[in-house]
Amino acid sequence: MQLLKQKVLDEGIVLSNQVLKVDSFLNHQMDPVLMKEVGREFTRRFAGEAVNRVLTIESSGIAPGIMTALELEVPMIFARKQKSLTLRDDIFVEKVYSFTKQETNEITVAKKFIQPGDRVLIIDDFLANGEAAFGLARIVEQAGATVAGIGIVIEKAFQPGGRLLKEAGYRVESLVRVAALDDGKVTFADQD
Ligand code: G4P
Ligand code: NA
Ligand code: NA
Repeated sequence: MQLLKQKVLDEGIVLSNQVLKVDSFLNHQMDPVLMKEVGREFTRRFAGEAVNRVLTIESSGIAPGIMTALELEVPMIFARKQKSLTLRDDIFVEKVYSFTKQETNEITVAKKFIQPGDRVLIIDDFLANGEAAFGLARIVEQAGATVAGIGIVIEKAFQPGGRLLKEAGYRVESLVRVAALDDGKVTFADQD
């Protein structure tokens, strides 16, 4: 997605060879016009997948998630992150380990919002190791629903998440794929 690549080049800050800061349009300040285009692009890519729910995770997945759900005219659910939980039978719970933050969160979704037979499109802002996406997919599967696809705004293609998700059989669509963050510069994986 050309518009998004340009935004990353213009405003992205390479913090290290692992981390890209995009707090001017995605992770702190958000660009609604860009997010509207993101929603349109995911809708175009996943047309034909009969999506009836969008699932994301708080907080930075919510903007691309809601714009995609708006375009698809389906509800959006965001998984909540919690530190530790008392046992409840009305929520799905999965553990998600973050290598970046070196901490485990429990992510939760109320059972009433995902039903058997649903076709759920998972949306997230970043894909690194894939832990969050796998956790969301496990929740969809716990519900007896189907993962219709996984849409990612920025994939760091030098980390293994994208490959692992595809190997697990999921359709992954990343709007930009970053090949490297070396020497303070962003290099993209795809030439288009
Ligand atoms: P993974 O799910 O793919 O395994 O990723 P990881 O645990 O490494 O990511 C932990 C958090 O860091 C996530 O945000 C993720 O979006 C974010 N993240 C990972 N790599 C980058 C990066 O290069 N740049 C930026 N800006 N963020 C990155 P989170 O903790 O869920 O926070 P939130 O922003 O959604 O609230
Ligand atoms: Na994030
Ligand atoms: Na996220």
